[in-house]
Amino acid sequence: MGYKVVVAGATGNVGREMLNILDERMFPVDEIAALASRRSQGTEVSFGDKTLKVKDIEQFDFTGWDIALFAIGSDATKIHAPRAAAAGCVVIDNSSLYRYDPQIPLIVPEVNPEAVHDYKNKMIIANPNCSTAQMVVALKPLHDRARIKRVVVSTYQSVSGAGKEGMDELWNQTKGMYVPGQEVAAKKFQKQIAFNVIPQIDVFLDSGDTKEEWKMTAETKKILDPAIKVTATCVRVPVFVGHSESINIEFEDFLDEDEARDILREAPGILVVDKREPGGYTTPVECVGDFATYVSRIRQDVTVENGLNLWCVSDNLRKGAALNAVQIAELLGNRVLKKG
Ligand SMILES: NC(=O)c1ccc[n+]([C@@H]2O[C@H](COP(=O)([O-])OP(=O)(O)OC[C@H]3O[C@@H](n4cnc5c(N)ncnc54)[C@H](OP(=O)(O)O)[C@@H]3O)[C@@H](O)[C@H]2O)c1
Repeated sequence: MGYKVVVAGATGNVGREMLNILDERMFPVDEIAALASRRSQGTEVSFGDKTLKVKDIEQFDFTGWDIALFAIGSDATKIHAPRAAAAGCVVIDNSSLYRYDPQIPLIVPEVNPEAVHDYKNKMIIANPNCSTAQMVVALKPLHDRARIKRVVVSTYQSVSGAGKEGMDELWNQTKGMYVPGQEVAAKKFQKQIAFNVIPQIDVFLDSGDTKEEWKMTAETKKILDPAIKVTATCVRVPVFVGHSESINIEFEDFLDEDEARDILREAPGILVVDKREPGGYTTPVECVGDFATYVSRIRQDVTVENGLNLWCVSDNLRKGAALNAVQIAELLGNRVLKKG
């Protein structure tokens, strides 16, 4: 016996990946519903070898459904997630709406799976920001060994992190560069993204950090350890899929680079590709469609006490969103709902 599963946002980047991953990981599905806005009613989306007709979320009754995977942005989530929860359907949400609510668990299954039991507080579980998810997967096993004090991270985030419109803007701007008179002005992003990089993701806060940078700090504390200090600089780059991060870590205890590499090789969700030769590391185009968080360039930072540098790459639509959400659904299934 399986579950009755809803995918809300099924026409979007994350929603489509959630459908793919439910199928790839053979999640025990008895019945599935694909939802989006009224605009998409009747649109067809794939689920394995089946085709699903998208339904309007406004008209959907969540009664009798077990799990709803949401990827519809905060505004629509605010309306429909409480409706689903009140009907007894557990919501796993990709938006940032509930991530900082102390009553709502924020989960990366490789890091804090035990938090799944708190789902019952509000029948909602939050999925982290894409850049946080891959980073904490890499930090967790190292923290367990040598206690992390401080992290300095710079991100190189792909345009798919800004949804379908972000991908379209990079594609159209790039094509427009070669056709006189067809230049495409910046709209989704603050400046030209084709052949450029933009050191702003989300809005500016009074501190001078952007909201994306603040999210990496706040979410790492909630998921991994409130004692860890994180400072981030988040940058949008002209890559379609795959976020990269340069991570500098300071530990309480000394951690040798070879031991760190061995620890990461054994850690769940991680693939180490770290040959000190040309091309002996992973780039974003190589991680697209994969489940793993790749770690490369592991090396001592001798400019601080107990320092380490590494390079971390993952498919932001997968570990950064859809895969993590499905892994949370698996946790719920295995540890709490236990139907499958
Ligand atoms: N992309 C990432 O890397 C990433 C990572 C982590 C979290 N997230 C979060 O996941 C969510 C979706 O992101 P995305 O990248 O998939 O965006 P997207 O490609 O732009 O897709 C947005 C989806 O939301 C649906 N939607 C929009 N307004 C709606 C409404 N009022 N009612 C019902 N459905 C509505 C859209 O349906 P229509 O097609 O009908 O408009 C579409 O299915 C966002 O909250 C985002 O912050 C994204």
